[in-house]
Formats: sequence, structure tokens, C-alpha cells
Amino acid sequence: MDLIKAVKEMDEFLPRFGSKNKIRIVYDVSAFFDGDVLMIITTDAISAFDFVMLNDIPDKGIVLNEISAWWFQKTSHVCKNHFITNDLDFIPSEINHPQLAGQFRQLLSDYLDVLKGRVMLVRKAKPLPAEFIVRRYLLGSAFDSYEKTGMVCGIRLRKGLKKGDRLDRLIFTPSTKAGFGEHDSNITYQQLKEMIGVKPAREVKKKSLALFEYAEHLASAKGLTLQDTKFEFALLPDGTVILIDELFTPDNSRWAPDYTKQPFRDALIRLGYNKKGPIYVGTPLIRETQQNYAKALQMITGKTL
Ligand SMILES: Nc1ncnc2c1ncn2[C@@H]1O[C@H](COP(=O)(O)OP(=O)(O)OP(=O)(O)O)[C@@H](O)[C@H]1O
Ligand SMILES: [Mg+2]
Repeated sequence: MDLIKAVKEMDEFLPRFGSKNKIRIVYDVSAFFDGDVLMIITTDAISAFDFVMLNDIPDKGIVLNEISAWWFQKTSHVCKNHFITNDLDFIPSEINHPQLAGQFRQLLSDYLDVLKGRVMLVRKAKPLPAEFIVRRYLLGSAFDSYEKTGMVCGIRLRKGLKKGDRLDRLIFTPSTKAGFGEHDSNITYQQLKEMIGVKPAREVKKKSLALFEYAEHLASAKGLTLQDTKFEFALLPDGTVILIDELFTPDNSRWAPDYTKQPFRDALIRLGYNKKGPIYVGTPLIRETQQNYAKALQMITGKTL
């Protein structure tokens, strides 16, 4: 069975959580567990410049899911996160409900093969309405903003920096979470405090910087230089801030050597992509991107597909 067919069938008996997701299919499976639990399925879709392309990168979803699971487990002492398990054969006792969990596996028995590797059970939480970016290097929209204003998210940087330069210190550059078809836009720390409250803003800034520093240390031991990344945080009902979504993946981070989504974006531009809508991507670029993602998985987790 393929993923599209599996999802179509699961839609008949599992409630979806969120409707505008581009890359992930999310089900609310709280009915089968003790506590509020989501099942996230990462597809092989690839988005660039706010559009989801018309063809997939084979196994990309498995790569992203495995890499996120690896980082969530490695960084849980730095910041609590939503990860529960990525193995449906092993439901941890913290959420296990003796009768219901069995029923869940029974319901999903036809789909376990297609879900394998691309599924994660996570704690459901209320996402904070912003994206939390940390940068070690001057790249992407940060460089564009610096070129125009000398600043990024209200932070003034020293004169004379070039694209791709290492910054004098780590910077925290939040942005809005754009709705469908809109672009994210950078905001200042002051604006973030107004949006989510002073205390949560302080906490996510501290956590973001600590996570980055810990991860760059781990990555460098594997020969990777972490350049920037994006976090998402959410609130549990008791007010605890937890890390959600995906973590230090080729989709939400940049690093060197560049086994990330960046070469794909660059290639689209080189091929004359007009950024006006989704397109079919040619086979050579699909293959090259597939190899890039596989290399990312191998470098970070040591695993092969
Ligand atoms: N533990 C969680 N609780 C609640 N919502 C979550 C949790 N983890 C992830 N999410 C949400 O699930 C969605 C994941 O979907 P996906 O990544 O496909 O969407 P997207 O962010 O629109 O796409 P892209 O990653 O290309 O920007 C996001 O909206 C994310 O905020
Ligand atoms: Mg996302």
C-alpha cells in the first residue's frame, strides 16, 4: 500500500489535526492514549519559496522523521520536547492505556508498513504563534535585512559583513508564522514580547540559544557546522513551554557541508524557477536531492535508508 492510499483510509476513522500543513499529516489520536497525543506522519513532499512542489523526494519523510527523533532524544535535557516515540511497536508506559493502545495498533495494522520510519507520536500542545530562529552565520533573509538596514530583527550588526560570514555572537531572530500563501516576516525581540508575553519570550530565547549551542557542539563532532535553525515551541495546559515540530533537520536548518534543502532551492533558481507556483521538478534534481537527504541522515544519525 502507498502512503496516499493509507492516508485516505485513515481519514475515515482518525480525526485530522490542522488542515494547512504542507509537509506533515497530523492526526489527533488522544482517544487511544492516556493524555493528549498527536500522530505526525512526515510525507516525502518538498516545499520551496512557500510552494509544495508537484513531485516528491523519495524517502525524504523518513530522513526528516529519523533526524528529528534523534535530536529530540539527544537534547531533552536542554529543553523538554513533544517526542514520545517513533516506534509504534513500543508505546511508552507514560501514555499507554492497556485496552485502548491495543485497539490503536489493531486499527492501524494494515498501515504499519507504510508508516514505519515516517511516524512519530508526540504530546499535543498549543503552538506559540511565532517561529524562533537562531543564527551563527549571516545567511538568507538575515543577510537581505542586514544589506538594507544594517540590522536583523532590531539587532545592529557590525559594518562590512558579507553574505555567509560568521557572526560575532549567536543571534536570536524571531519571525511571524505566516498563514497559507504568505511569507514569514522578521520581528524584533520587543515585538515578540508583545505577541507572546514577556515571560514566555524570555524563556524561548534562552532555550533557543541553549539548544543551538548544544547541537552545534554535537554536530561539529560529526564534521558539520551548524549555521542557523528554526524552532517551534508550544505550551502544555500547565503552562510549561515545550519544543515541538521538527528539530535540526535539512528542511529547517542550514549547515556545511550542505546536505540540506538549500542546494535544492539554489538549483530551482539556477533553472529559472519564477517562485510563482508549484512545478514538476526534473529527475536529475530529484535524484541529487534524494542523495543529499540520505547523506544528512547518515552524517547525523549514522543510519542508512
Ligand atoms: N506537538 C505539537 N502540538 C501541536 N501542533 C504541532 C506539534 N508539533 C507540530 N505541530 C504543528 O503541526 C504542523 C506540522 O505540519 P507541517 O510542518 O507540514 O506544516 P508547515 O509548517 O505548514 O509546513 P512547512 O514545514 O513547509 O513550513 C505545524 O503547523 C506545527 O506547528
Ligand atoms: Mg513545518
